[in-house]
Amino acid sequence: MTPVIGAHHEFHDEEFVAGWADRFVPTPERLKLFNLILSELRSGIPKDGSVVELGIGPGYLAEHLLNAMPGIHYYGIDFSSPMIEIARQRLKPHSTRLNFVQADLVKEAWWTGISAPISAIISTWALHDLGSQENVEIVCKSCAQALKDDGLFLNGDFIKPDQAIYEYEPGRFEIAKHLELLNRAGFKHAECLVVLEEEIEAPTSAQNYACFKGVI
Ligand SMILES: C[S@@+](CC[C@H](N)C(=O)[O-])C[C@H]1O[C@@H](n2cnc3c(N)ncnc32)[C@H](O)[C@@H]1O
Repeated sequence: MTPVIGAHHEFHDEEFVAGWADRFVPTPERLKLFNLILSELRSGIPKDGSVVELGIGPGYLAEHLLNAMPGIHYYGIDFSSPMIEIARQRLKPHSTRLNFVQADLVKEAWWTGISAPISAIISTWALHDLGSQENVEIVCKSCAQALKDDGLFLNGDFIKPDQAIYEYEPGRFEIAKHLELLNRAGFKHAECLVVLEEEIEAPTSAQNYACFKGVI
């Protein structure tokens, strides 16, 4: 049987979530993605800007950015209580610059709980879990609406490579489609900055991801 590249998650289950956080301690490749996001934020937003992370998970990216950017205020969105709890513990040293919003990215108006003008909305390895292009488009539109003028959107997420020889879960789709969704959502500029861990012949569910940038 042809494999479908993707993964099944139980993000509301405490044991599953603890296992996920242990398994996915950032690797050097993933740190390349984190550092790319860091350099885009350093050059693209004010030093004291507000950054929103969609699907903050265990807080690995948040920790990286809060350590490197001492002036930013951070908002972590996630619908999973156990993920938020793990992130809260990890990010304790930054608690004065951090708020969590527990919300479903597709079904709830998560941005209404954030009163500060939003300089950047970022995400890694999360939006494919929304399960469909339609849901990713809903979230892109929310981001376009929530960001202030010239605000940045940076999404490092799994893709379906153009040369794919397997089926991929519906939340993983081609680079051109990602860019189309950003354009349709109202971003005046959309580009793919990098593709990481490209693997066509024998891909795992943790390979083939790209970083997309949108400017509103
Ligand atoms: C694969 S994990 C990635 C976590 C983190 N961004 C990282 O790169 O380590 C996906 C995260 O997105 C969250 N998530 C998935 N679907 C969501 C939804 N509909 N609304 C809010 N959060 C969601 C999950 O709870 C989980 O924390």
